[in-house]
Amino acid sequence: MRKVVIDLKYEPINSKFPHFLHGADYNPEQWLDYPDVLKEDMRLMKLAKCNVMTVGVFSWASLEPEEGRFSFEWLDRVMDNLAANGAYAVLATPSGARPAWLSAKYPEVLRTDSKRVKAIHGGRHNHCFTSPIYREKTRLINEKLAERYKDHPALLVWHISNEYGGECHCELCQEAFREWLKTKYDNDLDKLNHAWWTRFWSHTYTDWSQIESPSEIGEKRIHGLNLDWKRFVTDQTIDFYRNEIEPIRRITPKVPVTTNFMRLYNGLDYWKFAPEVDVIAWDSYPAWHSGNTDAATGCEVSFSHDLFRSLKGGKPFILMESTPSTQNWQTVCKQKRPGMHFLSSIHAIAHGSDTVQYFQWRKSRGSYEKFHGAVVDHCGHENTRVFRDVAELGSALEKLDDIIGTSVKPEVALIFDWENRWAIQDVKGMHNERKDYEATCIKHYEAFWKKGVPVDIINMDCDFSGYRLLVAPMLYMLKSGVAERIEGFVRNGGTFITTYYTGMVDENDLCFLGGFPGKELRKVTGIWSEEFDTLFDNDINYIVLANGNELGLNKEYEVKYMCEYIHAETAKVLATYKDDYYAGKPALTVNNYGKGEGYYIAFRNNKDFEIDFYTSLINNKKLKRAIDAELPEGVTAQLRTDGKTDFVFLLNFSPETKTVIINEKTVFEDMLTAENVEKSICMQGYGVKILKRKLI
Ligand code: GLA
Ligand code: ZN
Repeated sequence: MRKVVIDLKYEPINSKFPHFLHGADYNPEQWLDYPDVLKEDMRLMKLAKCNVMTVGVFSWASLEPEEGRFSFEWLDRVMDNLAANGAYAVLATPSGARPAWLSAKYPEVLRTDSKRVKAIHGGRHNHCFTSPIYREKTRLINEKLAERYKDHPALLVWHISNEYGGECHCELCQEAFREWLKTKYDNDLDKLNHAWWTRFWSHTYTDWSQIESPSEIGEKRIHGLNLDWKRFVTDQTIDFYRNEIEPIRRITPKVPVTTNFMRLYNGLDYWKFAPEVDVIAWDSYPAWHSGNTDAATGCEVSFSHDLFRSLKGGKPFILMESTPSTQNWQTVCKQKRPGMHFLSSIHAIAHGSDTVQYFQWRKSRGSYEKFHGAVVDHCGHENTRVFRDVAELGSALEKLDDIIGTSVKPEVALIFDWENRWAIQDVKGMHNERKDYEATCIKHYEAFWKKGVPVDIINMDCDFSGYRLLVAPMLYMLKSGVAERIEGFVRNGGTFITTYYTGMVDENDLCFLGGFPGKELRKVTGIWSEEFDTLFDNDINYIVLANGNELGLNKEYEVKYMCEYIHAETAKVLATYKDDYYAGKPALTVNNYGKGEGYYIAFRNNKDFEIDFYTSLINNKKLKRAIDAELPEGVTAQLRTDGKTDFVFLLNFSPETKTVIINEKTVFEDMLTAENVEKSICMQGYGVKILKRKLI
């Protein structure tokens, strides 16, 4: 019945400590004048069951108070104290914020924005990523850190910089961009002009020096330029990171290196970054208990967790930051309700995290983040709700060692692709305000979440061959070779599902000639898309399902904002439009191709349709679920396994008590209570169950 996957166990993040990491960003440099506080921190860390602290993220001014004068003694003490208390350090490099003397002496390190305005000193995350001086200075401080702590027992993981992001448009960056373009286009300006279609509006470049990064005060409408600039920003950020890690790799080759990513951050293609780090890390800050239901928020966060696990082919990741209570930067900074801290932390583990870490350990006394959630509040003691929540989680994590290194091999993959996303953002025409690529991908993911079907979130460059179902919403851009690989996937028996807005442009954002969705996908889906129509908010149309269709669907579904007028060439029509000049024309098709099939969803619904459609596929194809159970509204199930034991996570994102009826005949072990569970399970509001299923 259930396919037993063997050898699905990765090494711990650092084999020095094969347990869940639990801890927080720790800023002892803010408390150097308060020795009692620093001492108390060590006592409290033990009580909170924290075993790791991220140190040094914003410590540059304390580590190098003036140029070339280094002061590590305070950090030595922190590292020693951590080690003496059996805890570890995630040691950061400080490039995320630099000392004032550095900006003052070397203004080239300051960032220039797209309007060509140069920043003055202040804030953080705002360096020029090309500046040779900034690179030299970061490399030097990193080298000193690595030399100093290379043999320190507390050193566990390197945390490079902080949340890389943004872009710089200074002259150094313009030159670097031109060099990048020369390499990409073989020094041939004609090639660039063709790729960017520059005869349009007489934008032809006759010299490389005429090329400038996209700007509101200059050029923003050449889509090829915009795309290449975004690609360059990713490459240049990675280049900066490579410079940062050079001394670290050289001096501490065995210590894993990472940097913290930010959810679905638009500005960097994390797929390019992933191979550069040893382990993926990300910072998760959802708005719980907001206008959205917590289930909807939970589903969105699951999507990100799945992405971060998929970025390294299933390797467990690090939840580097989350808040134990509230953020301070949302419009409404609402406290996590009782239960939510435990749930949202185990949620990360359910999708592949081997850590639960927070921003921040202790609330700062002053400045911008003094009211950001922390394990230790300004009251300074452990008798708080938040502290107890953290300590309770820490105790639970101590029971979960068997889960470390385990992962999942989903049968379903969903393509969420950065370059495709960037290209869609630039589209003018169709519906300019309702493109919603991210939300659409999450909508297509939701049914799997509700049914507890594991999903990988991949990009179009990934290998599709290990999956049974490949979902590609709005795959507007097809980079070279992708359509052929999709064709191969379907020919060999895969099921491919795509939608309107697919197969329109190549990787330079040049439209395919000869009919959308392009030659290969036309074969796979068996349709030709003749027109793209967009609807106003008050326009109403529906799709009508064909009688006796194989999906077993029989409702009418509303068409929202986007739809295409398509022709079924070899495809079978499963649903048609109800009204308008395309009444009776296909809206949903399936095409048998090779040993597989290709579905084309020509319209957007964004309500029940996507859920009903995928639920039907999940049932018809008997896709692997984490547990064979009736999952009530708001409850998801996720899976990790080592091939011998499955770990099933039941997560109740609703505040109400829910009962999960288990259909399979397994006797599970509840890992948190050590009790046996079968047939049904009662879940408290925001409750969590972690169940063991023995496979052999
Ligand atoms: C980011 C940063 C942290 C902190 C938190 C606050 O994730 O990395 O330094 O500012 O936000 O939520
Ligand atoms: Zn620059």
